[in-house]
Amino acid sequence: MPTYEPDIAALFHRHSSYVEEMWPESGDADDDTGGATTYPGTARIDLPGQGARIEMSLGEALATRRSVRHFTGDRLGLEPLGALLWASFGVSMREPPSRDEPVERRASPSAGGLYPLELHVLTRNTAGLADGLYHYDPRSHQLEVRHVGSRHDELAAATLQGPVLSAANAVVTVVGVPGRTMAKYGQRGYRFMLLDAGHLAQNLCLAAAALELGALPIGGFYDGRLHRLLELESGELPLYLVGLGLTGLGLTGRRLSTPGLTGPGHTGPWQRAAAEPQP
Ligand SMILES: Cc1cc2nc3c(=O)[nH]c(=O)nc-3n(C[C@H](O)[C@H](O)[C@H](O)COP(=O)(O)O)c2cc1C
Repeated sequence: MPTYEPDIAALFHRHSSYVEEMWPESGDADDDTGGATTYPGTARIDLPGQGARIEMSLGEALATRRSVRHFTGDRLGLEPLGALLWASFGVSMREPPSRDEPVERRASPSAGGLYPLELHVLTRNTAGLADGLYHYDPRSHQLEVRHVGSRHDELAAATLQGPVLSAANAVVTVVGVPGRTMAKYGQRGYRFMLLDAGHLAQNLCLAAAALELGALPIGGFYDGRLHRLLELESGELPLYLVGLGLTGLGLTGRRLSTPGLTGPGHTGPWQRAAAEPQP
């Protein structure tokens, strides 16, 4: 067993605490647009689901959200996956330019609008996507193809609970890039990055509940294994996993509507996507 310095958390908390002299003038202009990683040269897949209307009320989603540990492995449509990514981290507003560039805002809040997070998605049996590893580009609402071929077995070896996510259709890893917030906020920026991750993951969990999909947030993983599995750089840290997928609990997809796809007799976007041949 490794030994741990018991005071390290208290030390970090103290060193990342604000004292009055640090901010002599109140106010902190949130006019940044934040960072975003991209993988130039990789293939890109357009996602549906941008701006999707999720019809379940927030109250009902709050009341029904549970951590789900059983996924059927049945095929998930691309539209609910796109809707989940948009609802958690997609661009939800572009402000008119206040300086040189337009300012973007995402679906979950971020300290200083710096967006120190990236989403990497491992897929399994999702319509329109080969099983593999993808990176979500929120600005274009596209997936960048990073690796083709299932990595769910390696994922099981990287999580403390092993195969609990083996049948999940999509496993989103929230990856932190602490330099983005620490450059502005110092040690406090690390706290902010973790808080951002919680907001984002909660959006994912609630949106999944509202789409009648299962979601399981996981903090118990081997950091080094997950880092290697996702082929991350040294300044990128896996923070949190959220497994998503069909649970077989009477799911129909009727909770998601996209303008132009609704109407009498429409079978719902999930079924439509699921009926498409796999690439
Ligand atoms: C930060 C965090 C880490 C978690 N890590 C795990 C995990 O590693 N494995 C797991 O099965 N559940 C994990 N969970 C899910 C919790 O066990 C679950 O939220 C809790 O039992 C309450 O149940 P509920 O989500 O259905 O309300 C985690 C939840 C949070 C918020």
